[in-house]
Amino acid sequence: MRQIDVDLKYCKYPVFVGSGITNDFGNILRKYYAGRQIAVITNEHIFNLHGAGLMDQLPKDAEIVTLFVPDGEHAKSFEHLQNLYTRLLENHFERGSLIIAFGGGVVGDLAGFAAATYLRGVQLVQYPTTLLAQVDSSIGGKVGINHPLGKNLIGAFKHPLFVFSDSRLLQTLPDAEIRCGMGEVIKYGFILNKDLFEYLERNLERALQKEDEVLRRLVLISAGEKAKVVMRDERESRLRMVLNFGHTFGHALETEYHFSEIKHGEAVILGMKCALEFAADSGFLSKQEQRRGMELLNRVPVKFDSSAVDPDRLVERMALDKKVKDGKIRLVLIEQIGKYFFHSVEDKNLLKHAFGILKKD
Ligand SMILES: NC(=O)c1ccc[n+]([C@@H]2O[C@H](COP(=O)([O-])OP(=O)(O)OC[C@H]3O[C@@H](n4cnc5c(N)ncnc54)[C@H](O)[C@@H]3O)[C@@H](O)[C@H]2O)c1
Ligand SMILES: [Zn+2]
Repeated sequence: MRQIDVDLKYCKYPVFVGSGITNDFGNILRKYYAGRQIAVITNEHIFNLHGAGLMDQLPKDAEIVTLFVPDGEHAKSFEHLQNLYTRLLENHFERGSLIIAFGGGVVGDLAGFAAATYLRGVQLVQYPTTLLAQVDSSIGGKVGINHPLGKNLIGAFKHPLFVFSDSRLLQTLPDAEIRCGMGEVIKYGFILNKDLFEYLERNLERALQKEDEVLRRLVLISAGEKAKVVMRDERESRLRMVLNFGHTFGHALETEYHFSEIKHGEAVILGMKCALEFAADSGFLSKQEQRRGMELLNRVPVKFDSSAVDPDRLVERMALDKKVKDGKIRLVLIEQIGKYFFHSVEDKNLLKHAFGILKKD
């Protein structure tokens, strides 16, 4: 088992990463939490697959409740948050209690927000069970729910006591979810870590086939990159924006296609292709590096019919994005693999052209 430290001004916490480490959870928990009230927040699907291993590790004398939320993005709602508060109150959970978020990003965000707000805050442990949650959402403290008018609009920062990522749990993950998490892993390679990119060039298929050792390594490297960004962000504000590589293009696709026809990770993969095209077209990135990037991205199958995309509409969508400031679209681009930079878009035609490559895909 390996440990990555997230060392921030007001708190410090470890991210534990390993494969088949479930049996270490109890010992680690005892080190960080001495209280007696524990709520495990999860969904039934995840709990049926992996819950027994976790429950076995909880202190025998603790008051334990298991709270189920529905599967899917719609669980991140006021209604389900309220249900959680009600169950915690009915069970007389006090200020010193602990919430364990056991699931993917949906459970992590919702349970994390409950932990940030219930009685003005109780303790939290993030136990992520999807690739996306292990490499991204469980680290950095952003928690929250959706509002009917938009995703992730209501939220808080809540750092956990620790994050516990067992890559073995990913064996039961559907292939589509592996591909989605892989979008974020590839992103870290593009913007920050050329070695990771090269490792992916050699091992992408093994990762998509869920080879345990490859996944463990990818989680370890990616969680390390996310932790570094979160730490540096404290000193260089808005550095977290580097994580938007491929996302500004991707969000336009997600909103245009109503989140249902396209998954977030797929949109990010297509968005990264657009970002590479934009960077090469503007002369920031060599054609050779662009080709290399495209070759890796093309190896991830994406189930989305991009032949019908309308570049004009997508550029309009992009301009409406809540992150656009003073009418300027800010992009994260790369000048070579492993090296990002920020760019303010002057010519929207270049954006249109970049979306256009999806039609040729
Ligand atoms: N807080 C952040 O910084 C941050 C960052 C990125 C994304 N997010 C959020 O994360 C969410 C997406 O997270 P996600 O991609 O993990 O989706 P998810 O939580 O919906 O999980 C995907 C699916 O996998 C299932 N599942 C989970 N673990 C499993 C396992 N081990 N075996 C089999 N099935 C399993 C879930 O039940 C679900 O059906 C979004 O709501 C997004 O907004 C948050
Ligand atoms: Zn993302």
